Amino acid sequence: MTGQGNRQTPIRACVIGWPIGHSRSPIIHKYWLERYGIDGGYEKKGVRPEEFPEFAKNLALHGFAGCSVTIPHKAAAFAIADRRDGAAMAVGAANLLWLADGQLWASNTDTYGFVANLDDQAPKWREAMDTALVIGAGGAARAVVHGLREEGVACVRVANRTFARATEICASFGEEPPKGAAGRVCRLETVAWDQRHAAVASAGLIVNTTSLGMTGQPELELPLDDARVDATVADIVYAPLETPLLAQAKSQGLAVVDGLGMLLHQAVPHFEKWFGVRPEVTGELRALLVSDITGRT
Ligand code: ATR
Repeated sequence: MTGQGNRQTPIRACVIGWPIGHSRSPIIHKYWLERYGIDGGYEKKGVRPEEFPEFAKNLALHGFAGCSVTIPHKAAAFAIADRRDGAAMAVGAANLLWLADGQLWASNTDTYGFVANLDDQAPKWREAMDTALVIGAGGAARAVVHGLREEGVACVRVANRTFARATEICASFGEEPPKGAAGRVCRLETVAWDQRHAAVASAGLIVNTTSLGMTGQPELELPLDDARVDATVADIVYAPLETPLLAQAKSQGLAVVDGLGMLLHQAVPHFEKWFGVRPEVTGELRALLVSDITGRT
């Protein structure tokens, strides 16, 4: 919504999900509104799946310039938009909606958030881009695989409990060199769930994209004893901040990347789109979120 609307009217945005109580997006966007002295608003909107199309189609009537989209609406947001950018097209789901020229636009910033967070927390991951092992084959895995392809990882291996979903994700990206990867072809391979341990040894980057390890969920069983010394281990789970997988990696002296940074970085393009300022992910903002997470888990 950059540059649109009456400058005197405060711009309002929201996060839409169901349930929405857990969302930490308001903490992030309110911090930035205050930091940049912007007269705007950001709130949570609990919208049931059956009400989502009406709400999204009438964002302006509801008083919003755009919204963040979270579970379970990411596929519906992609489907309902008038226009979709390249990131949304690649992932097949949207976590950002905004109005421009009377049209509803959709994007997906999870890929950006994942890569920006890796670069932020473990920049050396780029020195081991030969092979990545991605655990999981859901929507989050699609965003991660897309990002790794774009960054030029030579081989991405996908292990998922339901093997057919791993096959599907690999087949859907195909062999075409992705944009931005300097023409490098990214080989996509499936790994059987019971072979994931064996696949650890070849990976320069290991990423958990499943909900395993999250508070209240079983942990991801993935022994890292055979991991390369130059491997980076990333988890998209951020509650707890240090998942059992990350604790294991840390105890072996491997580089670790927690999921909180992804949450923070994926919000950057959202704020910029609605409020016109590209915000910074500061240590102070991270500390605010850490204190909220540790207070609630
Ligand atoms: P998201 O869009 O957040 O990625 P999703 O599409 O529901 O969510 O995907 C969740 C991922 O976590 C999937 O890879 C799922 O494996 P399946 O495809 O076999 O369902 C994985 N997952 C969830 N619970 C799991 C468990 N107990 N063991 C192994 N994998 C699990």
